[in-house]
Amino acid sequence: MSENKMIKIFDTTLRDGEQSPGASMNIEEKLRIAHQLERLNVDVIEAGFPIASDGDFEAVKKIAQTIKGPQIAGLCRANDKDIDRAWEALKYAKERGRIHTFIATSDIHMKYKLQMDEDQVLATAVKAIERAKRYTDNIEFSAEDAVRTRLPFLERVVEAVIDAGATIVNIPDTVGYTVPSEFFEIIAYLRNNVPNIDKATISVHCHNDLGLAVANSLAAVQAGAGQVECTINGIGERAGNCSLEELVMTLRTRNDVLPYDTRVATEHIYPTSRMLSTITGIMVQPNKAVVGANAFSHEAGIHQHGVIMEKSTYEIMTPESIGLNQNKLVLGKHSGRHAFKQRLEELGYDLKKEDLDKAFVRFKTLADQKKEIFDEDLDAIIADEIIRV
Ligand code: KIV
Ligand code: ZN
Repeated sequence: MSENKMIKIFDTTLRDGEQSPGASMNIEEKLRIAHQLERLNVDVIEAGFPIASDGDFEAVKKIAQTIKGPQIAGLCRANDKDIDRAWEALKYAKERGRIHTFIATSDIHMKYKLQMDEDQVLATAVKAIERAKRYTDNIEFSAEDAVRTRLPFLERVVEAVIDAGATIVNIPDTVGYTVPSEFFEIIAYLRNNVPNIDKATISVHCHNDLGLAVANSLAAVQAGAGQVECTINGIGERAGNCSLEELVMTLRTRNDVLPYDTRVATEHIYPTSRMLSTITGIMVQPNKAVVGANAFSHEAGIHQHGVIMEKSTYEIMTPESIGLNQNKLVLGKHSGRHAFKQRLEELGYDLKKEDLDKAFVRFKTLADQKKEIFDEDLDAIIADEIIRV
């Protein structure tokens, strides 16, 4: 274990994840997810895009004021107004506040979206880093659509932003276009050709349009990336982003061939996944890796027999390792407050006393009508009683 390289987990559920159709969250909901990400022990929480709306600004500010462990990032385009606004919200996190600025570098984006040439984009990127440096040294730069960028230009941009003071350089596959072997080569090329590359951490940010976001991120890690950007349940623009739970559990489970690890407290994965689904209303598909309802179910008789004899015949990780307690207490009308509170905590709900009291009354009423209370019932009670009040 001690030889593993630690990979930083940059969670962007509250920013890119929120860009999923239908996933927008209010401040209170974002704060609940942020607390859960803190329990999960991610390294960085990207809390939002402060200039995008007053609500997003307030959410980033509140998270920067409240969350203590992880660093807090806010996204901004490469211009003074965006950067100043981002820091206004992030400053409450002090040195844990990270300015994350970006500009597109591919020919197609420069021509049609920015109407800028390479030199203009390069100058704008450097100017943005210089602006951010007025506030902090914790600066991440993203070369949007890096994968479709001419490699010699990407190399120039990366070198220039590191010289200007960027400490994390993100190489996004913005449109989910690359494949693992190609992405490995891109990251290896940058590592071998950018002279000052060791002064910064290489980050990757993969979208899932071809279902390859996790595989591409793993390839990048093998090529030397030190940070992976991902989201809970893989939510995000279009087909989503690299799924945090899949990436983290792959590194844990296949440590024999992948000598990397993360600081994620994996036993919080399942409660976090559920909490996000409950808040956004976006359920995960039953066969979703790691957190899907069927991920630890065994249907075929041969499989059931195997699992009864020895779990590892058909299970490569334990449900407990992701916080799915299969021996959970069955809640019903005879259950007491203690069991009720414990199950809520396992599901990631940490309620104030008065909220717990209200939820417990609702639980007892429902338990009189139903034989067994499932986790989904508890989610519904919390959503009704606590979230929507
Ligand atoms: O997909 C992307 O390129 C992004 C950047 C802003 C990092 O989300
Ligand atoms: Zn993205």
